[in-house]
Amino acid sequence: MGSFSSNKLVMIGLFLLILVLGSANASLSTEFYSSSCPKLLDTVKCTVEAAIKKETRMGASLLRLFFHDCFVNGCDGSILLDDTSSFKGEKNAGPNKNSARGFEVIDAVKSAVEKVCPGVVSCADILAIAARDSVKILGGPEWDVKLGRRDARTASQSAANNGIPAPTSTLNQLISKFGALGLSTKDLVALSGGHTIGQARCTTFRSHIYNETNELVTSFAQTRQSNCPRASGVGDNNLAPLDLQTPASFDNHYFNNLVDRKGLLHSDQQLFNGGSTDSIVRGYSSNPSSFFADFASAMIKMGDISPLTGSKGEIRKNCRSVN
Ligand code: HEM
Ligand SMILES: *[C@@H]1O[C@H](CO)[C@@H](O)[C@H](O)[C@H]1NC(C)=O
Repeated sequence: MGSFSSNKLVMIGLFLLILVLGSANASLSTEFYSSSCPKLLDTVKCTVEAAIKKETRMGASLLRLFFHDCFVNGCDGSILLDDTSSFKGEKNAGPNKNSARGFEVIDAVKSAVEKVCPGVVSCADILAIAARDSVKILGGPEWDVKLGRRDARTASQSAANNGIPAPTSTLNQLISKFGALGLSTKDLVALSGGHTIGQARCTTFRSHIYNETNELVTSFAQTRQSNCPRASGVGDNNLAPLDLQTPASFDNHYFNNLVDRKGLLHSDQQLFNGGSTDSIVRGYSSNPSSFFADFASAMIKMGDISPLTGSKGEIRKNCRSVN
């Protein structure tokens, strides 16, 4: 009896060891390419810098691409795949169509990287580095990017439609969408601070500025209405800044806006509308460095969502198509 249970213990121990080794093998590392592609980080930064210099908004667009990649079957470069006659990818899913941008910049980064180390670096990792560089270049926090993701051989339009939260979401819906991916309520609020940069189309905030004026300061609703007509179909693509103060700087003004009741999207103002996240928003609004620290750690967490590692997936030659 005694030897039976100690055998059993040894078996359980071995099993746990295999689990630990297996997951260690599958985990990402900041050093992943340090010998296989030592010039990687400089190469990405150079190309991203040039793109943002040409158009500041590109930094926002690249950050959002990474978010939309990670929220759909993990950070696997799936959003980058073009549709083909036999396959419907994520680019034409509701949240991405006429909206997701920056694909040409990712192509340019990929070709620069292929020149210095061909066939080594995944498109999924390039996206993760480009998002980090964008935030940093626009004045935000920096962090070491974990690497070693491989690229998906497929993508899912329906997963993109279901996985990416809509701007009409309630606070509870946002909390549960993030929670389903292992991201906490604090991560949700910190990551929403990504809306301190970039632009949104009238169609994404029209009902918020006309029908939810009780949640907003009147002058703000009026300003936004002036370039976003009430009638749907008119001016749908007119842009407004997600952070009305400094849409080209990564700072904490997004949270100040929410406290002032000037959130552009319904989902933004949900984070400060009398609910459980009000105190987190107030905290980030009064303490920019706590926002920066939490944003950086939440980005690392988001970058850890279901990566393909080891022999799964592939290293795409062209980010737009499988090999
Ligand atoms: C919390 C749920 C979220 C919702 C409902 C949401 C929704 C949206 C919507 C509707 C737009 C405007 C798109 C358009 O009109 O074309 C937008 C833009 C943007 N989002 Fe989010 N988002 C969320 C979270 C995030 C997160 C976590 C990040 C990054 C960490 C992020 C980064 C951005 C950026 C940077 C833009 C501007 C992109 C550009 O100017 O090209 N968003 N988002
Ligand atoms: C406001 O809400 C009403 C009633 O739900 C709806 O018919 C109308 O289209 C909405 N207006 C806007 C601008 O979204």
